[in-house]
Amino acid sequence: MTLNIDSLVVGYGKRNVVKGASLEIRKGELVGLLGSNGSGKSTLIKTIAGINRQSAGTITWNGNVDLARLPRRDLAKIVAYVPQSIGLSFGLNIKEAVLLGRTPYFGTRPREEDWDHVEDAMRLVGLDELRDRSVTELSGGQGQRVLIARAIAQDPEILLLDEPTSALDIRYQWQTLSVAREITRKNNVAAVIAIHDLNQAARFTDRVVFLHQGEVIAQGAPADVYSPELIKRVYGVDVEISTYKGYVQVHPLSERDQLHHRPFQAAHAVGVSSADARLGLQQLTA
Ligand SMILES: Nc1ncnc2c1ncn2[C@@H]1O[C@H](COP(=O)(O)OP(=O)(O)OP(=O)(O)O)[C@@H](O)[C@H]1O
Ligand SMILES: [Mg+2]
Repeated sequence: MTLNIDSLVVGYGKRNVVKGASLEIRKGELVGLLGSNGSGKSTLIKTIAGINRQSAGTITWNGNVDLARLPRRDLAKIVAYVPQSIGLSFGLNIKEAVLLGRTPYFGTRPREEDWDHVEDAMRLVGLDELRDRSVTELSGGQGQRVLIARAIAQDPEILLLDEPTSALDIRYQWQTLSVAREITRKNNVAAVIAIHDLNQAARFTDRVVFLHQGEVIAQGAPADVYSPELIKRVYGVDVEISTYKGYVQVHPLSERDQLHHRPFQAAHAVGVSSADARLGLQQLTA
């Protein structure tokens, strides 16, 4: 059972931003969507969520469900989406905002079971103590956690997270990524997370997909895919790759780091002046 994205083309006006992307996300798998600013990650995610429409290509679920043709309410039972930017400017408290995730399931009144989902979701993202606070009074990170809780309460089959940890402190980044991974496995969800932190992606995702100028240029397990050449192509940055506790890790190198990687530069490690460093770089690149 998979989410199948085949030859997807999406644009704004005449400009295509996603240019024939194909990828698969299996149930129970958390896939990291990586790529530089403007590479098309949010556009791709919004198209799966039914917010943008593709001009070509298909998005199918379980082999035969065309997500673009599903009625809104049915789509909302399958797909939950956490947007990149937070828009919570209405007068609800936190538990009411999280309850919005349950609206595809109940008629006019929430049932006990709906509130159970809300309670579980608030607990998972650490919001239970703030439950009665108005969403307009929250910090950026608290607001982001409300959106994540709403998506979890929705009990989706496909979970789309667009940079869900960008406003979170390190504790909640790790908690949120752990929860995303746990829910993906436990509820057998097909999950996609756009994320800029390559090291966190390596730690928490099963697979990564690199989007570059609207095209998928690499995918696979982080340890198989990360390479200095790929990172240089995508981000224009020189990096060193290492392993920490069994996870592949990426370390950007400054010009100075690169100089110190050369044996004859070792003497510069003590008190190197920037003029010396520039000279060294010229020698290296000459
Ligand atoms: N509503 C829009 N109208 C016109 N162009 C858009 C719109 N949204 C995004 N774009 C353009 O589409 C391209 C891809 O944007 P997108 O938001 O998908 O990138 P992204 O990979 O999510 O980037 P980031 O890492 O900054 O979030 C960019 O060039 C952007 O300017
Ligand atoms: Mg984006």
